[in-house]
Amino acid sequence: MTKKQKRPGAAKPVSKPWSGRFRNRTHRLVETFTSSLSFDRRLYPYDLQGSVAHCKALERAGVLSRKETAQILRGLEEVRSELESGRFSFAEEDEDIHMAIERRLTELIGPIGGKLHTGRSRNDQVALDVRLYLRDALGALLDSLRRFQRVLLEKARAHLDVVMPGYTHLQRAQPVLFAHHLLAYVEMIERDKGRVRDALVRLDVMPLGSGALAGTNYPVDRTYTARLLGFTQVSENSLDAVSDRDFAIEVLASLAMVMMHLSRLSEELVLWASQEFQFVDLPDSFCTGSSMMPQKKNPDVPELVRGKTGRVYGHLLALLTTLKGLPLSYNRDLQEDKEALFDAMSTVVASLEVSTELIKGLTVNRAMLAKAAGSGYLLATELADYLVTKGVPFRQAHVTIGRVVRWCLDRKQDLRDLTLADLRSFSDRFEKDALDVVTVEGAIERKAQIGGTARKRVEARIKALEKVLTLRS
Ligand code: ARG
Repeated sequence: MTKKQKRPGAAKPVSKPWSGRFRNRTHRLVETFTSSLSFDRRLYPYDLQGSVAHCKALERAGVLSRKETAQILRGLEEVRSELESGRFSFAEEDEDIHMAIERRLTELIGPIGGKLHTGRSRNDQVALDVRLYLRDALGALLDSLRRFQRVLLEKARAHLDVVMPGYTHLQRAQPVLFAHHLLAYVEMIERDKGRVRDALVRLDVMPLGSGALAGTNYPVDRTYTARLLGFTQVSENSLDAVSDRDFAIEVLASLAMVMMHLSRLSEELVLWASQEFQFVDLPDSFCTGSSMMPQKKNPDVPELVRGKTGRVYGHLLALLTTLKGLPLSYNRDLQEDKEALFDAMSTVVASLEVSTELIKGLTVNRAMLAKAAGSGYLLATELADYLVTKGVPFRQAHVTIGRVVRWCLDRKQDLRDLTLADLRSFSDRFEKDALDVVTVEGAIERKAQIGGTARKRVEARIKALEKVLTLRS
């Protein structure tokens, strides 16, 4: 043995759990570049939960004695209390939360701590931790979505008498109830919740026991581990289990959809609060001023919700792209899933929270909405449908009323100002009752089929949705 060669088994200056086959220690730059500790430390409760279950499964498999199991479990509790109280000190060589916890466990209870990782890899460990985290986070997200729906429903109920112009192409189209408009968002959020619940079904798969990629040599009862952790299924393919992140992409897609919905509402609030619309007033406490123009009251909150939507879409695209070229099974690229998930989740929850309060504090300018609903030829379709009741084919009725509108436009008058004689000059099918049709109220009430804006329908839908929300509170 030459002088330079070290004795096999000699300790290196900084020991990593995997340092055995290495001659040199990790470069400082690589240490920083590869570390996930700054963002995955928040996974510690889930990592501990997984370790406790794994430890019990190892005992049941006869790998750990009862005494060793008790020691490890006690050690894990000590680690937990250090982490919870902030007493835990992270070491330079801790690459991630998994290594940090194992290192500290071994410091606390000695070499027995090194038995915990038997039959486990950080690959199946992190797959488990992310699933456990998402299960919790999605539960909280569902609560936020429900709170947002409740506030929209309350606003709708309190404004059942308010009519507004409904739009297509941002052109005034037909009158609708303001409540009907708000309920459209409640329906969107209901579907968002459905997507979140679907994602929870796919999350409900326990990956521990997959090892690094091939499975485990130890006779662990994986269904026992799953039961301990509250999963109903165990993964059926170890390669898939350590490299699958489609559950995470699915969550990001659901989050992107929530943001898309919030962003559409935000855009409407920005428009409605403008001097051009003046449909609503946003609470002062949710607006900001200009540093230069003293008169300004800016809708920064809905603008930012709209703006943050791009960021959440970005996370979805980023993870899709990260995954697309990866050979099976685990690759370090997968570490990139966490920041995307954490940031998307906190952005959506914060956006929901602030939007909930914003809607709560919103005041509706009833007079302005009524005025807008009463003008702009919103009742033209009603007149066409009137002719249909008199036997005129709809296509023909459409052309006739188009001419009426053109005539009114030329004379700068509204449909409301038409006399029976005016109408009869376009079609002799118009009778006295035609003038009764030209009312906003009538237009609303005739939309009486399921999904229509008639007051009774809207009220019934509010009731039904309120029930759904209390049943699933
Ligand atoms: N920090 C890693 C991640 O987030 C944990 C798994 C590391 N596995 C490995 N073989 N380097 O994905």
